[in-house]
Amino acid sequence: MKIEFYKHNINGIDIKNLIKVLKSFFLTTGETVDFFEKKIAKYLNLEYATGLMSCTNALQLSLAYFNIGHGDEVITTPLTYTATVDAIEYVGAKPVFVDVEKSTGNINAELIESAITKNTKAIMPVHLYGHMCDMKKIKKIANKYRLKIIEDSAHCLEGKRDNIKPGQLGDFACFSFYATKNITCGEGGAIITNNKDAYCWLKKARSHGLTKDVSQRYGRVYQYYDKEILGFKCNMSNIQAALLLHQLDFADSRLEKRIKISQKYDEAFKSLKNIKIHKILNNTLSARHIYTILVEKDRDKIIEKLKKFGISVTVNYRPVHLLKYYKEKYNFKNGDFPIAEDIGEKTITIPLYPKLKLKEINYIIKIVKSINLQYD
Ligand SMILES: Cc1ncc(COP(=O)(O)O)c(C=O)c1O
Repeated sequence: MKIEFYKHNINGIDIKNLIKVLKSFFLTTGETVDFFEKKIAKYLNLEYATGLMSCTNALQLSLAYFNIGHGDEVITTPLTYTATVDAIEYVGAKPVFVDVEKSTGNINAELIESAITKNTKAIMPVHLYGHMCDMKKIKKIANKYRLKIIEDSAHCLEGKRDNIKPGQLGDFACFSFYATKNITCGEGGAIITNNKDAYCWLKKARSHGLTKDVSQRYGRVYQYYDKEILGFKCNMSNIQAALLLHQLDFADSRLEKRIKISQKYDEAFKSLKNIKIHKILNNTLSARHIYTILVEKDRDKIIEKLKKFGISVTVNYRPVHLLKYYKEKYNFKNGDFPIAEDIGEKTITIPLYPKLKLKEINYIIKIVKSINLQYD
């Protein structure tokens, strides 16, 4: 059997929406992006959304809005995709890591205060695998030290914790619509916020900082633009938005399907001696973006074995502080963030998506169990 790591859900209606845009004259940022922005803001119970080319852009623009740059520090987790930390580097600030919780893999909010210095400007929590961080605790710390909160919600569109969704306590929530995300257009991102001033700035900043966006410039009457700020070039196009619009309607029902598959995995793996799984806390609805198992030893050999049996897997993540660029630049060493490193050495991500068939799920369970037996 060959089981893909991920299969998207783009279907007939999405393709119809795409064709509609392709048959129009307007391929770049316009009406379809507006529709999508309104829809996703509503989905998250927030006011304003800005469509972008990626979540990496979203994280970078969020930092830029707050003028965070050289000499500033941003607290984040080492157990994330490099994009989180890269965004901090792009603006010239210094990433300051805080170790993670063993149970969820999320930044350990209890350790954040000890990492704050006079240069700290923001906290960038990552809702790892779709399980939200302890935003109530993080918000309290941010209030106490007057720090901004930029949530990396690339994994967590549908999740909640303590009945709070991404962006409801933070200043910004940043989302990804990359190829393997819960809703996807291949590449894409967005910032969602309740801050109107920020929203107006972001709309300009995503298109070079121009005062008139393309749809305004090329309307019935040509309008000159001016330039008030040095912006970026990362505006979402109508092509991307067309693919996302309808997927948003299915976000919750597709989450239900991922929950059912995850529960099947949980049930099958919970009694295995050599395989551990992450906890979902009682107060949390995880967006179940990816499903990871933790193996006691020989992770790389096990990955090879899973691949040999036709199961595509990946590693989320080897901790960022030990990747060459960051390790050398900031002199990090093994043992600096032991829990993130421990998870980073043991973790394997197995397939989780609504299109997985029952026989594929059962096959994955059978192979994982047989690997466990071998290590008994
Ligand atoms: C946790 C996390 N943050 C940020 C990103 C970056 O997203 P994008 O590829 O849309 O820039 C990803 C992408 O996989 C991610 O997993």
